[in-house]
Amino acid sequence: MAEIGRFIVFEGIDGAGKTTQVELLAKHLRSLGREVSLSAEPTTLESGKAIRRALSGAEKKSECQMAAMFVLDRIAHNIDEEIGIRALTEKGIDVISDRYYYSSLAYQGAATDYGWVKQMNIGSPEIRRPDLCIYLDLLPEQSLERISRGRESVEIYENLEKLTSVRNTFLSVIEDLRAEGESIYIVDANRAPDEIAREIASIVDKHI
Ligand code: TYD
Repeated sequence: MAEIGRFIVFEGIDGAGKTTQVELLAKHLRSLGREVSLSAEPTTLESGKAIRRALSGAEKKSECQMAAMFVLDRIAHNIDEEIGIRALTEKGIDVISDRYYYSSLAYQGAATDYGWVKQMNIGSPEIRRPDLCIYLDLLPEQSLERISRGRESVEIYENLEKLTSVRNTFLSVIEDLRAEGESIYIVDANRAPDEIAREIASIVDKHI
């Protein structure tokens, strides 16, 4: 039987460089002869598009509605027959996702009720736990500086106060889920991309 693919997640506050590191890790894994598929949340599926419309402010949703929409999109991300994590890993393909339930626990957990958001996500039989999570850690000031350099529109979650509280929540989410046995690594993201990528590659090599 073919080997089951790994499911690896990148998290971090806005501007932490997740997109770049997802690509560099994919390159590393492919150089080892592994097949890799990249994904992200919100997904490109209908459920993810609805989230994008809400994030842009075009369609007003409450914080609890947002939490539920992210859960719906995450389930689709797991079970979609073509691009789903389950289908791909069963074929032996590694899946690397830019964001997963850690984001919901940090953003929606802070905005609504942490226990409720955690239960909806961790408690769902159709939302699997990742094999590994890499948290790219950046101070909120560094994050805002990067965001303002690279983007035209600022989405609703992106201001200093919120970034500070989201980072603190992320760190407590990590502590909470580590206590349940999850493999989560905090990586200093305020360095050159290739230096960060080398550290991540050595972490991942121990897990595959
Ligand atoms: P994304 O496009 O990945 O933003 P970025 O490019 O800054 O990483 O994600 C859009 C926003 O969605 C981001 O501000 C974080 C938010 N989000 C949540 O609030 N909860 C979630 O569960 C997820 C996956 C994302």
